[in-house]
Amino acid sequence: SLPVPSVQELALQHLHAVPPRYIRDHDADAHEIITDQSLSVPLIDLAKLLNQDSQAMELQKLHSACKHWGLFQLINHGVSDESVRNMRDQAQEFFELPLQEKERWVQKPGNLEGYGHSFITSEQQKLEWSDMIFLKVLPAQNKNLEFWPQKPLKFRETLESYTEDVKGVVVSLVRLMAMGLQLQDKEFYKTYQQGRYDVRMNFYPPCPEPERVVGVNAHADINGITLLLECGDTPGLQVLKDGKWILVQPIDGAIVVDIGQIMEIMSNGIYKSPLHRAVVNKSKERLSIVTFCYPNSSHDIGPAKELINSGIPPLYKTVSLDEYLHLFLNSKLEVPFIESLKF
Ligand code: SIN
Ligand code: FE2
Repeated sequence: SLPVPSVQELALQHLHAVPPRYIRDHDADAHEIITDQSLSVPLIDLAKLLNQDSQAMELQKLHSACKHWGLFQLINHGVSDESVRNMRDQAQEFFELPLQEKERWVQKPGNLEGYGHSFITSEQQKLEWSDMIFLKVLPAQNKNLEFWPQKPLKFRETLESYTEDVKGVVVSLVRLMAMGLQLQDKEFYKTYQQGRYDVRMNFYPPCPEPERVVGVNAHADINGITLLLECGDTPGLQVLKDGKWILVQPIDGAIVVDIGQIMEIMSNGIYKSPLHRAVVNKSKERLSIVTFCYPNSSHDIGPAKELINSGIPPLYKTVSLDEYLHLFLNSKLEVPFIESLKF
């Protein structure tokens, strides 16, 4: 069974107050929160990026978004409406199954894979107001089918084909980022053709006291690039920009793109991996489908050589992907973790 209770089950009890293990001390996280449209995350159009006539201008927007925000919404991304719809439906149907059915795919102690909750490291740890299922999808040899739901019936095939679609977008986007960074080295994006793709589906039930809990703690992603699909129009994702939390207003059909710490390292700090978090809602549930993309493990994690010269030293050490992940797991989940790789 689950190491901590399912939040979805907790929410079904129609509590008036949230159990103490979920209640946050908000002084620790007291940034101003901007929820109106006065400051909104950049919007990038992949079709414009791929069209000769509009490429130069849109590439400037992309480059600037990666430098100054590390997060943007992507439209005309090429993942078909059908693929998006199927993935959302299958994820939604999975979380709607009875707990007993979902628990067939439950996590093993000390491991994130499967149905459950993010890292639990102590009894004192504050819990997040969310349930999740985490699965390794690509390359195929990474798949551990013991955690892959067989219900709903099309879950497995839908997840596989959706992730292939996401991979296509990632390879295009990273190629364009390389252009923005003026890199000639094709390996910079080609390494994502044989990269690692893990998927995490987050379910955020309604919460009686949403302002006292957090759906997902503030963090910067450790992978290269993250593509996030929201299901529905309930907002929840916030990104820290110039010391303020900016709410990402869901756009139907758009994919949120987030720069991970590997990309920050490889761009020698030119691109920023932003802190972000998820908040929850009093009356509405929210579901997100997040694909974490990594370069191939044969590719070292370090600043691109073309970005280093006599005037610009490397900001980060170069390590293997295995070493990088090992360092992360031993970092006690410090935020942001790449500080430890700085010279
Ligand atoms: C995450 O960044 O881990 C999830 C955020 C979201 O659900 O929007
Ligand atoms: Fe994240």
